[in-house]
Amino acid sequence: MAALFNLQIICTFLIIFSVTIQAQLSPDYYSYSCPEALDIVNNVVIEALTNETRLGASLLRLHFHDCFVNGCDASVLLDDNGTFIGEKTAFPNNNSLRGFHVVDVIKAQLEKACPNVVSCADILAIAARDSVFHLGGPTWEVQLGRRDSTTANRTAANLLIPAPSSNITVLTSNFANVGLTFEDLVALSGAHTIGFARCATFRQRIYGDFDISPSFAESLRSKCPREGNDTVLQGLDLKTPSHFDNLYYKNLLVKKGLLHSDQEIYNSNKADPIVRKFSRDVTKFYNSFSKAMIKMGDITPLTGTNGEIRRHCRRSNKKP
Ligand code: HEM
Ligand SMILES: *[C@@H]1O[C@H](CO)[C@@H](O)[C@H](O)[C@H]1NC(C)=O
Ligand SMILES: *[C@@H]1O[C@H](CO)[C@@H](O)[C@H](O)[C@H]1NC(C)=O
Ligand SMILES: *[C@@H]1O[C@H](CO)[C@@H](O)[C@H](O)[C@H]1NC(C)=O
Ligand SMILES: *[C@@H]1O[C@H](CO)[C@@H](O)[C@H](O)[C@H]1NC(C)=O
Ligand SMILES: *[C@@H]1O[C@H](CO)[C@@H](O)[C@H](O)[C@H]1NC(C)=O
Ligand SMILES: *[C@@H]1O[C@H](CO)[C@@H](O)[C@H](O)[C@H]1NC(C)=O
Repeated sequence: MAALFNLQIICTFLIIFSVTIQAQLSPDYYSYSCPEALDIVNNVVIEALTNETRLGASLLRLHFHDCFVNGCDASVLLDDNGTFIGEKTAFPNNNSLRGFHVVDVIKAQLEKACPNVVSCADILAIAARDSVFHLGGPTWEVQLGRRDSTTANRTAANLLIPAPSSNITVLTSNFANVGLTFEDLVALSGAHTIGFARCATFRQRIYGDFDISPSFAESLRSKCPREGNDTVLQGLDLKTPSHFDNLYYKNLLVKKGLLHSDQEIYNSNKADPIVRKFSRDVTKFYNSFSKAMIKMGDITPLTGTNGEIRRHCRRSNKKP
């Protein structure tokens, strides 16, 4: 009787345990099914950075824009076609997201090495991690096992991806919406220590924003005139846009954040002490950033039998 009772407890435990594992991501997800997966991604990321350093920033941003819309499911990678409208042409993404070619190169190599195994959503998570590391930033153990969506939602992308004009209240609620805290917001905004923004995204700020260094605003106005070329680029970190350091936070202390949303996190509010902490101590920034990236990568992934492993990242395997 006692033995039977024990067996029952063990079985219940095993069932709960297996359900838990199935729903969770793990760092060794491809250890048996595709042991070379991590090396393949890393090598292509290195090649991409050799081609163009900015691609590291572009790949990091792709993972962010993927995760904020229906979770990290590679929905952002689906191309529009005659019968399908996806997220690529949503307002925050159109003519702005880049790095899709790199993802295609990674996927092609993975399909050769281990067909139908590695998801596009996981490619984005690994490529983001490796990009940060090769640009001088921290590294972390990347969680794996996400599957790919068969669809996307442009309306949700327009609604859920924060805008550069957002104030701290809106930014906080955009992040809370996907389970990310205030400290996560401040840490993840540090991604803007690399990469570039188009004049269109900071023009409003340099002509009359209240919390910008006057000399900084002035220095950008000739580059980004009131009526000018929207696509002229400026580093998000004015000093080292190709190096993943903590200068982003130091810039904020002297009101030299490029985007209005950047400066909002150092603007006499409760984020100020966190910004000062990260500006003083790069290790604290790296630790918080790494933790927050793992959390962001864990936003409602598709697991088990949900979704699919796309054969090509730009389209679902599903035939219309
Ligand atoms: C906090 C809210 C955020 C806002 C409002 C925001 C907004 C923007 C904007 C407007 C740009 C320039 C786009 C363009 O001009 O085409 C940009 C670039 C970028 N964002 Fe963010 N972003 C935010 C958070 C994040 C997060 C959480 C990450 C990653 C963890 C990230 C990573 C990047 C990177 C790396 C770039 C440069 C991309 C490149 O050079 O290709 N951003 N962001
Ligand atoms: C690097 O550039 C070459 C030449 O344009 C291109 O063929 C290759 O696919 C690029 N590699 C990556 C990883 O983007
Ligand atoms: C996306 O950009 C293209 C090229 O600039 C433009 O023709 C198209 O109308 C834009 N799409 C949306 C949905 O705004
Ligand atoms: C797309 O997103 C919008 C806004 O979040 C939501 O109202 C709508 O139900 C979503 N559509 C689908 C098909 O899930
Ligand atoms: C922040 O922006 C939202 C949306 O534009 C607005 O409703 C709100 O009043 C603003 N909050 C503050 C404190 O300025
Ligand atoms: C606008 O600026 C971009 C980036 O500097 C450049 O490639 C493009 O040719 C410019 N367009 C015009 C019309 O000057
Ligand atoms: C259009 O894209 C959707 C989503 O990727 C895909 O399911 C469908 O097969 C595509 N249709 C065509 C005609 O390629």
